[in-house]
Amino acid sequence: MGSIKENTIKFKTYSDEYRDNLVDIIFDAYSDFPEYGESSYKSAKKYINWLKNHSTLFDIVFDKNKPVAFLVVDGNWISSYTGEKVGEIHELAIRKDYWGKGLGKTLMDRALNHLKSLGLKKAGLWVGEKNKRAIEFYKKYGFKPVRKYNQWLRMERSL
Ligand SMILES: CC(C)(COP(=O)(O)OP(=O)(O)OC[C@H]1O[C@@H](n2cnc3c(N)ncnc32)[C@H](O)[C@@H]1OP(=O)(O)O)[C@@H](O)C(=O)NCCC(=O)NCCS
Repeated sequence: MGSIKENTIKFKTYSDEYRDNLVDIIFDAYSDFPEYGESSYKSAKKYINWLKNHSTLFDIVFDKNKPVAFLVVDGNWISSYTGEKVGEIHELAIRKDYWGKGLGKTLMDRALNHLKSLGLKKAGLWVGEKNKRAIEFYKKYGFKPVRKYNQWLRMERSL
């Protein structure tokens, strides 16, 4: 698989007209690990509403006008464990047929640049403990496991 052609990719900020497209992306991206995704269309819609209200960056990626991925980052998150302010990557989901083309890297760079521009010193996220592909991906960007909660692994890095 080649890398994606930059000139066919566009970014748009979230609006409700794209909500159903994002539900489709969630079901596709998490099809290997449904336990880390959403159990129903209804819960996925609720989750997207929650993301909308807990984000300082909510980007949707379009390839030739088709929504293929999205990124949700929150620069106002307070860690319930430490009480500190941390830049939280709430969601990074890419359609399976777009994996391995560099889109994850593009979105991670956007997430980290956004958090740095807000002056944050730490980034964090929760990932499913069996989701090895994502864990390896995050390690590549300097995230390290710091704790576990049920089936979730907490990863953090300095900015
Ligand atoms: C995890 C995910 C975001 C990765 O996105 P991606 O587009 O496949 O990643 P990229 O192609 O940009 O890869 C970025 C780098 O990570 C590396 N990488 C990706 N998967 C890897 C793996 N399983 N093991 C080791 N490295 C890996 C790539 O080699 C690449 O490095 P390079 O630029 O030096 O070649 C994507 O697979 C996804 O959406 N998964 C489903 C949803 C999900 O699990 N989200 C995270 C939940 S918290």
